[in-house]
Amino acid sequence: MRLLVTGGAGFIGSNFVHLTERTRPDARITVVDAFTYAANEASLEGAAATIVRGDIADAALLDELLADFGPDDAIVHFAAESHNDNSIAGPSPFIDTNIRGTFELLEAARRHDIRFHHISTDEVYGDLPLGTPERFIEATPYHPSSPYSASKAGADMLVRAWIRTYGLRATLSNCSNNYGPRQHVEKFIPRQITTLDDGGRPRLYGTGDNVRDWIHVDDHNEAVWAILERGRLGETYLVGADGEASNREIVRLLCEIMGHDPDAVDFVTDRPGHDRRYAIDAGKLQAELGWEPRYTDLRAGLEQTVDWYRKHREWWEPSKGVVEEKYAKIEEVLER
Ligand code: NAD
Ligand code: TYD
Repeated sequence: MRLLVTGGAGFIGSNFVHLTERTRPDARITVVDAFTYAANEASLEGAAATIVRGDIADAALLDELLADFGPDDAIVHFAAESHNDNSIAGPSPFIDTNIRGTFELLEAARRHDIRFHHISTDEVYGDLPLGTPERFIEATPYHPSSPYSASKAGADMLVRAWIRTYGLRATLSNCSNNYGPRQHVEKFIPRQITTLDDGGRPRLYGTGDNVRDWIHVDDHNEAVWAILERGRLGETYLVGADGEASNREIVRLLCEIMGHDPDAVDFVTDRPGHDRRYAIDAGKLQAELGWEPRYTDLRAGLEQTVDWYRKHREWWEPSKGVVEEKYAKIEEVLER
């Protein structure tokens, strides 16, 4: 099987490439990635995949890459602008990549009649109240809050339209917050780990009570494989591992794991439009495709992640300063 993996030099995409090469050695992978600030060449070190630098919105490049793809091959579409805070500060690239880029890929998949799997997020559903048992299901209405989630919602709608109108052989998955190795230091968990490692204080937005539903990146990528191998065409599957925790709880766990005072944290001005809580009911994926998460102990998953960042300082150190400068500017604007 041949796979075109978009965004394969980013966090989830690079873990997908490594997991696939470990577990499905017959798959032949081409990565197409624009190598934005979010990509890291070192994330694909040791991978056998062919790596192509390019934009998913480049139709001619996509035609070239898909020229010898056959009916059993697939596109797995991870590429995106993926960070909420960036989308609030500057939404334009989110429209270009997440909407326009997805459109060009769908058109290429249609021209070449290629199976398509679209990676999306639970953030398209908006947020849930704190302290309720309510969870997102596949039928939850779309209600995105940020430019990021709105652009992902737009992309999802395009995929659904291409399935219905053109009969594109496609599936979608909407996953909760991922953690694990190779995640950019701008994101919550790696930011706190690397700050603590540098002797700094974790930074919590608002009260720190917002809740995310955490899943290990390998569990997410195994779900993608379950959908590629056994998913029903045209369907959407929600992916989550019952990993709900408040941001404050995550910081407490990280401080405990890393031997820091859990009360030595800074509360900073809240993110505008900050979603309160996400929670996934993955019942359809489990019942239909038999997928189960392997990382069911959040503390153990975080310990593995902390260990990875401690052993790979050279991977994250070059971006740490730039990211903290960006956050300092964002905090300054929000405090005004
Ligand atoms: P990431 O930001 O780490 O990686 C995105 C990758 O896409 C980068 O390598 C970047 O260079 C590439 N890219 C960006 N624009 C491109 C373009 N125009 N053409 C080609 N490549 C381009 O993101 P991630 O966290 O790995 O997320 C991957 C996907 O999973 C995204 O679609 C995201 O919406 C979705 N998702 C992420 C999470 C999460 O917690 N991180 C949760 C659910 C869904
Ligand atoms: P993030 O990793 O940006 O993911 P998302 O916004 O897509 O859920 O943030 C996760 C949560 O952590 C979110 O509630 C915002 C919060 N957060 C902080 O409290 N401090 C931080 O430094 C960052 C980056 C995020």
